[in-house]
Amino acid sequence: MSLEAEKSNSKPSAKSRVDVQRTPVLNAEVASAGERTWENQLRPHRFDEFPGQHRVKEKLLLFVQAALKRGEPLDHVLLSGPPGLGKTTLAHIIAEAMGVECKTTSGPALDRKGELAAILTGLRPGSVLFIDEIHRLNRSIEEYLYSAMEDFYIDIVSGEGLGARSMKFQLAPFTLIGATTRAGLVNGPLRDRFGIVERLQFYQKQDLVEILLRSGRILGLQMTPEGAFEIARRCRGTPRIANRLLKRVRDFAEVRGRGVIDEAAAKAALDLLEVDELGLDDMDRRLLSMICDKFAGGPVGIETLSSALAEEVDTLEEVYEPFLLQEGLLQKTPRGRVITESARAHIEKLQLDV
Ligand SMILES: Nc1ncnc2c1ncn2[C@@H]1O[C@H](COP(=O)(O)OP(=O)(O)OP(=O)(O)O)[C@@H](O)[C@H]1O
Ligand SMILES: [Mg+2]
Repeated sequence: MSLEAEKSNSKPSAKSRVDVQRTPVLNAEVASAGERTWENQLRPHRFDEFPGQHRVKEKLLLFVQAALKRGEPLDHVLLSGPPGLGKTTLAHIIAEAMGVECKTTSGPALDRKGELAAILTGLRPGSVLFIDEIHRLNRSIEEYLYSAMEDFYIDIVSGEGLGARSMKFQLAPFTLIGATTRAGLVNGPLRDRFGIVERLQFYQKQDLVEILLRSGRILGLQMTPEGAFEIARRCRGTPRIANRLLKRVRDFAEVRGRGVIDEAAAKAALDLLEVDELGLDDMDRRLLSMICDKFAGGPVGIETLSSALAEEVDTLEEVYEPFLLQEGLLQKTPRGRVITESARAHIEKLQLDV
């Protein structure tokens, strides 16, 4: 859609607001191939280039230094948190800080023991093996990892049927870094094998400003601190979204403005994208207004919401709810989801503004 066409849609009626397709711009879970290239360009490579997550960073840095001092591999690390907060980035930073290679795979991609065995036996001493979406490992693969994590050996079976023989294969000591958006879905026995377990939090505005200014420098953009602050305020506390919005604001500033990303350009571009004052997008608003209007504020079960919104339960739980919960707009109760007074006030204000 052209910018003009988008603008003509920028003030939808209350009804069309509900019907509009959700903009992917705030959905940190979706990253296209092109975007991954851009993400790699902006990805910090060292702890001191990684703003935010101060406590997690401090601890990780300390554990890395201790492991280096002892000349041992780092303990296994489990990183959890909503999409786009820097789990993959941190895994690479850890490997770089340890001065080792980082092999990458993911839970759903590992569906055969043979494949996992090939990866594990190919690891050099001290290497990092990064498994993304570790909560999606199938059970037998997960169990196969246990001895590898604990004692650095795996059982390799040769032959078939009655002639099958199992032998222990010693692995080089390595560090497993697992990442998950759903810490609650990581089984206890797997979780217990990680010596370091850290949860990433949504970012503070000041840290997001720093991230945006850094991205601006890398991309050679002209940006004022106020422009960066406006984006930081409306990016759901998520660096991936901050960088994505930066890209869109840059388009806006180049076409409609003087090419400078200042407060006015950021405000106008974000309004055009229908990212509201709280940083909520169309899907967040649909979720809140659905509970408010159709379920009298709640409580309503997640399954019911999922069918009413035609959105998968997993996506609601992984992508949308964490931010709404942390912002105090939504509450989880044993009987279902309930919206808060501030969410109700926000929705009513938006409906009045239309
Ligand atoms: N603290 C940070 N400083 C600068 N950039 C960051 C920071 N955290 C994340 N980013 C950037 O945000 C983007 C997304 O980060 P990353 O891929 O590490 O997130 P993730 O937690 O692994 O997400 P997912 O759950 O979707 O895999 C990357 O471009 C990364 O460089
Ligand atoms: Mg990742």
